[in-house]
Amino acid sequence: MKIAFIGAGKVSTALGLYFKDKGFEIQGYYSRNPKSAEKAAQLTRSCPCTSLDTLIGNSQMIWITTPDDQIKNVVQQISNLPILDKNKKLVLHASGVHSLAILQPLKEIGYQTACAHPLLAFNDPFLAKEKLNEVWFGIEKSKNGNKRLTDFFNACGNKTLYIDSNKKVLYHTAACVLSNYLVTLLNASYEIFEKSGVEKSDIQKATLPLLESVINNLKDKDCKEALTGPIKRGDQKTVKMHIERLKAFMPEMLELYTLMGKETEKMLEDENQKKLEIRNQKSEGE
Ligand SMILES: NC(=O)c1ccc[n+]([C@@H]2O[C@H](COP(=O)([O-])OP(=O)(O)OC[C@H]3O[C@@H](n4cnc5c(N)ncnc54)[C@H](OP(=O)(O)O)[C@@H]3O)[C@@H](O)[C@H]2O)c1
Repeated sequence: MKIAFIGAGKVSTALGLYFKDKGFEIQGYYSRNPKSAEKAAQLTRSCPCTSLDTLIGNSQMIWITTPDDQIKNVVQQISNLPILDKNKKLVLHASGVHSLAILQPLKEIGYQTACAHPLLAFNDPFLAKEKLNEVWFGIEKSKNGNKRLTDFFNACGNKTLYIDSNKKVLYHTAACVLSNYLVTLLNASYEIFEKSGVEKSDIQKATLPLLESVINNLKDKDCKEALTGPIKRGDQKTVKMHIERLKAFMPEMLELYTLMGKETEKMLEDENQKKLEIRNQKSEGE
């Protein structure tokens, strides 16, 4: 099966490298800027294409990997091409926010269609390619195209999870909270470290083992179990001290700190309730 990509950016370059490693043939890349297609094709030893119909004509799996806002335009472009054997070709997109519905015009003219959203933050294509072995792909249930897609991911060794098409935007919101706002939260923490007097150039490196230990704790524990720190321990005075210092030195961080604190308390509510009941039972028995 030959694989093609329309949109030669971060995701398609990493996927091309990965699928090639898994033994699939990468037919090539088409992109708005031919230079992007050339770069991705060079890295994956495939063809940079300036003709969309040649690329699609020569491929069986066609990924639309443009920015989300461009998918509709690309679908329109493909619809107008005189391609043979459309029913043997699977066209899919990698967007986490758009559903299968955006590919409906292609389904109507005979193409198989699917979506496969990789749950990974793509940046450097080579780092992403290494990580792709462990990545889960979010797919939607569809009448055509699904069996082929699950077979494909099984062959690659990737797991898939089903997304409800009607709730896909919510699914993508969750992915953004995790992958984007985690970075925003880290940035807030770095700013507080800097205000505390830690050398700016040391902060990221010095805190990396701390961050990694948090991720490691989450590998085999749920959030409540993995949580550490003053709220988990019930050290209320420590939390008060944090708030006082923020009030004095970084009032702009207070809202974020207290909001996160409230969410943390909410997460622990059941557990604290249980602890309270055990404590009450003990004191009644004394
Ligand atoms: N980045 C992530 O972490 C991530 C994770 C999961 C899913 N996704 C999804 O993967 C898709 C691609 O994201 P990305 O991060 O790889 O984006 P990207 O790095 O911005 O790459 C998109 C590529 O598409 C090209 N392009 C733009 N409009 C086009 C058009 N009309 N026709 C052909 N090519 C066009 C771009 O322009 P040039 O040709 O000018 O270079 C660029 O090379 C999106 O649907 C996104 O939601 C992204």
